[in-house]
Amino acid sequence: MKSKFRSLIFISSILIGLSSCNNGEVKLTNLGFEKGNFDEWTIDGDAFSISDKVYFGDNNRYYFNEGKYHVIGSLSKKGTLKSKTFKVTNTGHISFLISGSKTNDTYVGVYDAKTHNVLTKTNNLYYDEMLNTDNYLREVLDLSEFINTNVYIKVVDNSDKDYINVDDFIIDIDEDLLTELMIDKNVRLGLDTYDDMIKAANTYIKQNSYKIQAQDRFKYHVTGEIGWINDPNGFSYYNGKIHLFYQHNPYDIKWGPMHWGHVTSTDFVKWNYESVALAPDKEYDYIGAFSGSAVEFNGKYYLVYTGASDGKQVQCLAVSDNGINFTKYEGNPILDEKDLPANTSIKDFRDPKVWVKDGTAYMIVSARNSSNQYSKLLLFKSSNMYDWTYAGRVIANNSNMGEKLGIMFECPDVFELNGKSVVIVSPQSVAGHRNADSNVYIVGDLSYQTGNLENWSYESINEIDNGFDFYAPQTMEMNDGRRIMVAWMASWNRQPIYSSVGFAGAMTFPRELTLIDGHLYQNPVRELSNYYTDSYSNTFTVNANNKLFVPELDGFYQDITIEFTPNNGKTGITVFSDDNGKGMKLYYQNGRVYLERYGVTDGYYSQTELYNVTSSKTKGQSNVKIRLLLDRYSVEVFVDDGYSAITATGFPLNTQSKAYLFSDNTTNVKVIKNNIRID
Ligand code: FRU
Repeated sequence: MKSKFRSLIFISSILIGLSSCNNGEVKLTNLGFEKGNFDEWTIDGDAFSISDKVYFGDNNRYYFNEGKYHVIGSLSKKGTLKSKTFKVTNTGHISFLISGSKTNDTYVGVYDAKTHNVLTKTNNLYYDEMLNTDNYLREVLDLSEFINTNVYIKVVDNSDKDYINVDDFIIDIDEDLLTELMIDKNVRLGLDTYDDMIKAANTYIKQNSYKIQAQDRFKYHVTGEIGWINDPNGFSYYNGKIHLFYQHNPYDIKWGPMHWGHVTSTDFVKWNYESVALAPDKEYDYIGAFSGSAVEFNGKYYLVYTGASDGKQVQCLAVSDNGINFTKYEGNPILDEKDLPANTSIKDFRDPKVWVKDGTAYMIVSARNSSNQYSKLLLFKSSNMYDWTYAGRVIANNSNMGEKLGIMFECPDVFELNGKSVVIVSPQSVAGHRNADSNVYIVGDLSYQTGNLENWSYESINEIDNGFDFYAPQTMEMNDGRRIMVAWMASWNRQPIYSSVGFAGAMTFPRELTLIDGHLYQNPVRELSNYYTDSYSNTFTVNANNKLFVPELDGFYQDITIEFTPNNGKTGITVFSDDNGKGMKLYYQNGRVYLERYGVTDGYYSQTELYNVTSSKTKGQSNVKIRLLLDRYSVEVFVDDGYSAITATGFPLNTQSKAYLFSDNTTNVKVIKNNIRID
């Protein structure tokens, strides 16, 4: 099985033009057109041109060409493309990629070089108007009865109503390569998948992500290209780029075999999809490459993650020197049961977050006691990233702390802000919690000597975000020193409603963190303002029971702030509203800001208060400021310049793009709005 993978690497080396020799007879070095020209080919007519385009159509559907260049034909023009003469050798097969070409007037032929008789020819036998029009399919022609014959290939477009695209001609094919090519053919036809799980995932994603329409996606929140995502992983800055990885099951809109998806950015707003970084392809991680982090250490880039197998969770390493392709360390795992302190279970030992301080790498990991249900955060340290020693217990919870700290900790992080240590963690199973699992921050002082967090109190523990869709936050330090946080914008006890469009789960918009008097402030990263358009500002007098629709606030992609001096009763804004006022409400009442989302969850989530109403604290100033970031299915609310936050998703219909102000008592409400446009 492994040999498949090796040969596939071999195929790609052919594709970039390294090989393609023919038993010393003639060396053909441009059978894949990787020279970016028609060198070695004779071209007639004007049907053919070299292209480096990778996708076609409006929906980012991929050609699946190999290497950089391929040959695109023309619907209205005619022509031919003829190779040099070569000898049929080895198994006698010739392979190539073909797309378009639905009729016999466009074809690839192999000709006897002496007689110029055609030995075999084919058009695109798998042409499918709906599915495969331009996706390259692989053809493998059997010329074994012509071994040792001198031949040439001719690509023919005899039609002004049809076209043919070609790429990646391969000759001199041995048995092993033939097997690989047949697999490639079947993968392209959707009949097989690659054994290499990264290649399989990348191929699946490319082949299927076009099915999700651009208008059904978030515009500036990270999601998978298709399928399920949960926790942010490996959020870091490396080699001039921001890297964000995520727990990913590309194959379904539900949690499943955990891969690490990967996006990069230079500004936290616009992201590029990269190759899937990790797949669950080892015995120690076959259930999943679970959550973890990324760190640069001595010039290399490391992913540190949890390998989950049956009843066992261990910490593992993968290394990269380009930030895109990762190799799992042969000595994995780097932490397993023998490294655990007493009374610690290997069944729940996960989510390592690594950082480097004064040349030493530190890792905080969640663990569970073997003797009872409760949890603790363990600290390990290393001088080389490979050998780790236990350094102490950062914090532990117990039966008196259930209300805030639940049972099992997940996804810890620790960082310094304003001279203090901030631990963030996601406690599972908090009884009665609207999301079942919570998210909290704890301020103290981490002692690198004892490994303990000192000077913290249970009373001062607060939720980071009081919303419905916020879990497993992770932070990174930006190269300018800012501490930035993202979280999974969903929660475990509810499937995102919008998953019906083909993807499930998103990241919050990245937030800048600051700590003032022990209180954590969070605000959207400032780079967002580079994408503002249609700025608008006005002050309205809002009267009791009047829905004051503001036409300038129509839209799904906006950054809106309302500010007012509160009165008795409620004052606020409804966004994602239809003409009748059904939408997502945000309002101030009695010192708190409330979010009510019945209007965008009905028909899906239970219409209980627990699932639909939540609130957060205001700072208690004379004015209240509520900032809302809207992106298709989500709102992130920041109260009083980031003093508190509420994140929630829903499923606004296309008709729910409006917004109105309301107030129980006459109130002057200032509105500032910017649309967010990502081209
Ligand atoms: C948190 C979590 C992590 C685990 C991952 C698996 O949401 O349960 O503890 O590593 O998800 O996908």
